[in-house]
Amino acid sequence: MPNTTRDTRQILVTSALPYANGAIHLGHLLEYIQTDIWVRFQKSRGHECHYVCADDAHGTAIMLRAEQEGITSEALIERVSREHQQDFATFGVGFDNYHSTHSDENRHFSELIYTRLRDAGHIATRDIEQMYDPVKGLFLADRFIKGTCPKCGAADQYGDNCEACSATYTPAELIDPVSAISGATPEVRSSTHFFFKLPDFADFLKHWIDEEHVQSQIRNKLMEWFEAGLNEWDISRDAPYFGFEIPDAPGKYFYVWLDAPIGYLASFKNLCDREGLDFDAYWKPDSQAEVYHFIGKDIVYFHALFWPAMLHGADFRTPTAVNCHGFVTVNGAKMSKSRGTFIKAATYAEYLNPEYLRYYFAAKLTARLDDLDLNLEDFAARVNADLVGKVVNIASRCAGFVKKLGGGRLSAHCVEPDLVARFIAAGDAIAEDFETREFGRTVRKIMELADEANTYIAEAEPWVLAKQAGRDQEVLDICSVGINLFRQLMVYLAPIVPAMAEQARAFLQLETLDWESRREVLVDHAIAKFKPLMTRVERDKIDAMIEASKEDLVEEQKLKEGAKGPLAEEPLAPQISFDDFAKVDLRIARIATAEYVEGADKLLKLTLDLGGETRTVFAGIRAAYAPEALEGHLTVMVANLAPRKMRFGVSEGMVLAAGSNGGIYLLEPHSGAEPGQRVR
Ligand code: 2FM
Ligand code: ZN
Repeated sequence: MPNTTRDTRQILVTSALPYANGAIHLGHLLEYIQTDIWVRFQKSRGHECHYVCADDAHGTAIMLRAEQEGITSEALIERVSREHQQDFATFGVGFDNYHSTHSDENRHFSELIYTRLRDAGHIATRDIEQMYDPVKGLFLADRFIKGTCPKCGAADQYGDNCEACSATYTPAELIDPVSAISGATPEVRSSTHFFFKLPDFADFLKHWIDEEHVQSQIRNKLMEWFEAGLNEWDISRDAPYFGFEIPDAPGKYFYVWLDAPIGYLASFKNLCDREGLDFDAYWKPDSQAEVYHFIGKDIVYFHALFWPAMLHGADFRTPTAVNCHGFVTVNGAKMSKSRGTFIKAATYAEYLNPEYLRYYFAAKLTARLDDLDLNLEDFAARVNADLVGKVVNIASRCAGFVKKLGGGRLSAHCVEPDLVARFIAAGDAIAEDFETREFGRTVRKIMELADEANTYIAEAEPWVLAKQAGRDQEVLDICSVGINLFRQLMVYLAPIVPAMAEQARAFLQLETLDWESRREVLVDHAIAKFKPLMTRVERDKIDAMIEASKEDLVEEQKLKEGAKGPLAEEPLAPQISFDDFAKVDLRIARIATAEYVEGADKLLKLTLDLGGETRTVFAGIRAAYAPEALEGHLTVMVANLAPRKMRFGVSEGMVLAAGSNGGIYLLEPHSGAEPGQRVR
């Protein structure tokens, strides 16, 4: 473990690189805010700390998205990079460099690492069979193949696992597989692939994991993977592919996940070249500098196995630590487009101050992997009570008296030296919590101090004394203490709410709010006119943001369908006879109850009333509907479908809905239809 007590540490920090084909949303922001707070803290402590990131620009998804929009991949990643950087700036995420994996530096390091691994014997080649889309002319990753589950018969399942019964299988086992891109039936084709021989690094990785480079929960997970055995990793993809061609292998490209983490090196190199920093001092094998990667728990395998092994095998140093966090939920559930809780960064910022979110995330973050719930009621209550009610309140209560009685200058002496000294001393324990990423604990400590400051002012009652003759100096003394306490709080809060801290710095007329600066008590010091540093969260703005997020979904849907049209997305099925159709017994059903299904991301359990008979149906509509929004509504069901045993129970039919993952629209008859009526 690094020596974190050194005077000046050299620290390089990264957050995961966002894909260059989608907008930044609140789920992403948890990580960037967590990292940015930690980086700002390190900088405040006077360490040399560099925070770099980049867009993750390669891969099939980006290539297809560009094609869908009728632009080149380069144009797409250029545009998205601008949007991402705008969003990060809005939320105060202060990268020292933001680059792209589609860059000269990244090509250089990808080729260098690959050739070093190859020359050391860590790359294998062999032929593998894969599904191929003959219409699009490309090999299909599992998620681009859909079909009927071979185990339970659920339709429209992805190529490697079934959402309905959780079975795992290979795409070749799917019944009636189709390419999700063109609708064509895929063929099996063989081609040569390149593999990184991860098992060569098993002993190295076991030691590495034992040296506290990962959290204990991650270590346990990694041990399970070790026990299951490490596999060679397929690092190549066939043309057409948006990425870097593999040296000496025409038509073969590095898989996006090979060059993505190398993007950390590339972005840092780009910064070093611009600012004259020493790249090797950070990345040579025996470097004393510290390197930290902040990531989500879904990409541990890449960062705690492949990445250290690649670095080690290519003669670079390995990360000091990989810091993992959990996912964001909103109001206790996964972010949902139809509920309006899949909130884009830009949509949030149209309605609410980004610093509210920074504060709320900090208040709930720990160093562990637990998911973090953004409860919108609690969010408003907490920001209003803490930042506005406690912290800003101290300054706003005291500033007026300092202006009136001291002409804007604080007292020439401090009347509560012990109290101020305690606030200064508290910085050591608070720093410890920042260092260990226990931000929730940090915030609790800061708010305890804020309570103390408010109690001091409330008990001293300067507003009462101000009405009494001859007590002006006392009032000024009390309020000067209040302003000093406020200053301490802002030093501690600055990494969390940097924009608010900047306003506080200007109000306090200080050069800096750096950690050490807090030690100098402010006496006979001029302050500026007080302006409110933060306003209250307004509930109607939250509601408006949710509504706007629902609108975002509609826009996205239009874009998707406009680009191609649903018929092109999913070509018509072969013709059937009337007799075939007549076999399907469709009935009007009333949704009597609807509930979530524990452990099933996509399903809702519906109890359907057919006018005398009830049926239980598991429907894959959870992404689009909250259960309570469905109860009482009429819909149409296939009533004579053979019952299907699923992992969660037996499904006795199907409800009819249009659309797919992005938007799901349940069919509902005009009013007047009755449960049980046949539909023709
Ligand atoms: O999961 C993701 O969003 C990836 N784009 C993260 C890449 S992180 C790093 F390896 F580049
Ligand atoms: Zn299944």
